[in-house]
Amino acid sequence: MKIIKNIGELIGIVPEGVRRKEGDAMDEVVSIKDAFLSFDNGLIREFGPESQCPPKTEGDEIIDAHGGMVFPMFCDSHTHICYAGSREQEFIDKINGLSYAEIAARGGGILNSADLLHETGEEDLYDQTMVRVNEMISKGTGAIEIKSGYGLTTEDEIKMLKVIKRVRETSPAVIRATFLGAHAVGRAYSGRQREYVDLVCEEMIPAVAEKGLADFVDVFCDQGFFTPDETSRILEVGTRHGLVPKIHANELACSGGVQVGVVHNALSVDHLERTTQVEIDALKGKTTMPTMLPGSSFFLGLPYGNAKGFISSGLGIALASDYNPGSSPSGDMRFVMALACIKMRLSPEQAFNACTINAAYAMGISDIAGSITKGKRANLIITRPLPSLGFIPYCYQSAFIEKVII
Ligand code: NIG
Ligand code: FE
Repeated sequence: MKIIKNIGELIGIVPEGVRRKEGDAMDEVVSIKDAFLSFDNGLIREFGPESQCPPKTEGDEIIDAHGGMVFPMFCDSHTHICYAGSREQEFIDKINGLSYAEIAARGGGILNSADLLHETGEEDLYDQTMVRVNEMISKGTGAIEIKSGYGLTTEDEIKMLKVIKRVRETSPAVIRATFLGAHAVGRAYSGRQREYVDLVCEEMIPAVAEKGLADFVDVFCDQGFFTPDETSRILEVGTRHGLVPKIHANELACSGGVQVGVVHNALSVDHLERTTQVEIDALKGKTTMPTMLPGSSFFLGLPYGNAKGFISSGLGIALASDYNPGSSPSGDMRFVMALACIKMRLSPEQAFNACTINAAYAMGISDIAGSITKGKRANLIITRPLPSLGFIPYCYQSAFIEKVII
């Protein structure tokens, strides 16, 4: 047994069985001051006031938190960190005035990354991905969803998913894999989108499912990418092959993606930079988690999602980094939390819940991660002593993480 003692404040306690927080509950963060927490075999055993800490027995290891905060590691339910190289030339193009959509329409963007990925071997791609995973762990992220979508041929999509599988087997983080063949139309199918969708449905999904390489199926359903009808077809085929839908929607336009996601019981609908009451109403009472990615709004200069509107309508939201080479080259969930507070005007408590328990829900792991709950993974952040939860997004660049336990 390992016992963390001398915890100034243990934050993010959620009762067993609670899988997500919605509406007013997003403002609740339960904590215990002057606490202890014990864990065993990587799972949380017990926690409570320090005065109730069981005496040390032989073999126990004591970890002194020195009065710092302890809270669950962040979950990042939307990333594209399995990619080759980088795209800073497009960053310069953006500085000089081109939009994300214009770069994509010129044949750059995702297709640029697909060209680089095609030339990169599995070993190299694994090494590049693990650098990002380890960087994210050091910044406090303990669970990562990783998408394919830079292959855009059956062979290269499978190459990506095999790399993600190896990351899952070798990294201490909780990893989930998403098949995103419909991220863009592969170069070989330029001008033949309908045939590319056939390829995704008839060849890629069956191959991915047969090899057991993905948990989720995702589609970039947006203006200039895939239509709601194409998305519906892909999600339907994915579901039939045992993949749970997730979706990219409403980044570039109100394109009907949220509604398609809801119809197909998507676990999450992500981006939502542009939404109206229609999308909010479509999500009410559903199992789908709206997920916002303020890092891409920041990097691309897009509007920020209307998170407050969702929450005041009684919905929950999750936050994720969208870490990818084109629209969000950062996997720092502390920065995501700060952006949510500063730019979307979420309270620190709402932002915290969105980055932990709700993000865990959005990647299908809120039974094992995302909160301080008996039996869940003891994936924990220990900080130096901090005055309050609000200090986390407020002093968003201070190096206050003393240790991560994963
Ligand atoms: O979530 N929007 C679509 N896909 C990614 C960007 C991928 C890229 O540009 O490489 C996103 O922002
Ligand atoms: Fe994305």
